[in-house]
Amino acid sequence: MQVVNVGGSNPYPVYIGSGLLRQLGSLYRRHNLSGRAFIISDESVIKLYSQDVIQSLQANDIDPITVGVPPGETSKNLEMADKLYERLIKNRFQRSDVVIALGGGVVGDLAGFVAATYQRGVPLIQIPTTLLAQVDSSVGGKTGVNHRLGKNLIGAFYSPSLVVADLSTLKTLPKQEWNSGLAEVIKYGLISDRVLFERVERHIETLSADDADLESIITRCVDIKADVVAQDERESGLRKILNFGHTLGHALESMTKYQHFLHGEAIYWGMLGEAYLSFKFGNLPEMEFVRIRRLITKIEKPRLPIFEPEEFLNHVYRDKKNRDGRIHMSWLRHIGQCQPDPIDPDKVLSVIDFWRQEEAQLVQ
Ligand SMILES: NC(=O)c1ccc[n+]([C@@H]2O[C@H](COP(=O)([O-])OP(=O)(O)OC[C@H]3O[C@@H](n4cnc5c(N)ncnc54)[C@H](O)[C@@H]3O)[C@@H](O)[C@H]2O)c1
Ligand SMILES: [Zn+2]
Repeated sequence: MQVVNVGGSNPYPVYIGSGLLRQLGSLYRRHNLSGRAFIISDESVIKLYSQDVIQSLQANDIDPITVGVPPGETSKNLEMADKLYERLIKNRFQRSDVVIALGGGVVGDLAGFVAATYQRGVPLIQIPTTLLAQVDSSVGGKTGVNHRLGKNLIGAFYSPSLVVADLSTLKTLPKQEWNSGLAEVIKYGLISDRVLFERVERHIETLSADDADLESIITRCVDIKADVVAQDERESGLRKILNFGHTLGHALESMTKYQHFLHGEAIYWGMLGEAYLSFKFGNLPEMEFVRIRRLITKIEKPRLPIFEPEEFLNHVYRDKKNRDGRIHMSWLRHIGQCQPDPIDPDKVLSVIDFWRQEEAQLVQ
């Protein structure tokens, strides 16, 4: 087992290892959590993992209540949060009681938001069960729900008391979800760790939940995220580097109304495009661009939809991180090194021709 400590104003540990669900009860006690437990999960994850969690808590004299939401993004909204508040109130949950988020990023964001707001905040344990949630969404304290007018518009920064990432849960993850999470792993390598990038590059064909290297790979990703968020808890500057691939990727996702790509799939196209822009208009050496392109090309992902350039640009501008009316992007200087800076819209548009050429090559 590895432990990464996330610093900042409310520090917390992230436990990473195989079989940790069965140690949850003792971790709960070790962190002086004494109250009752309210497990929020999705119905697919409940079938797979709630028994292990419940048994581990019961073995430590904690008797939890488990509430399931339907799997998928449509559960991440205020109506669902309201239903969860109702269950908490009717079961007389109090300030010292604990909310446990057991699932992927959807459950983590929703349960995290409920924990942040119920009685102005109750202790929270994140138990991420997707690769994306283990390396990204469970760390950094961003919680929230979607609004009918936009994604992740309602939310709070709220640190968990601890994060428990059990790697063995990843064995049941569908391949497409695995690939989606892997996009974030590759992103961490690209923005800040060349060695991590090279490890993924060497193992890309075989990397799976059974891999002996997985614990150290996930730990490295959590390390990088922990380091960045501790320095920029409220996303005012440095956290922008985590957005590599997301300036273009978010636009692809929103333009297709979140129906066409899983998040990571859009991020692959985004990273490919932003690496190209970094090479064409920035300092990324061609050899490094070629390596990035070779790696990303190997990963299965949906084709790009048909769209008008202006429509795409509108969605790039809509990204809520473009506060000053300019488009911001994480420019890669080298594999493992990046710098956030604005980019001109006509340069952004040049990515479309590049993408289309890439697609044409994929077909051949
Ligand atoms: N808070 C943050 O900082 C942050 C960062 C990135 C993404 N997010 C959010 O995360 C969400 C996406 O998260 P996600 O990709 O984990 O999606 P998800 O939570 O919808 O999970 C994906 C699917 O995998 C299933 N699943 C989960 N664990 C499983 C397991 N171990 N075995 C088999 N199936 C399993 C789920 O039931 C679901 O159908 C989005 O809402 C996004 O906005 C938040
Ligand atoms: Zn992402």
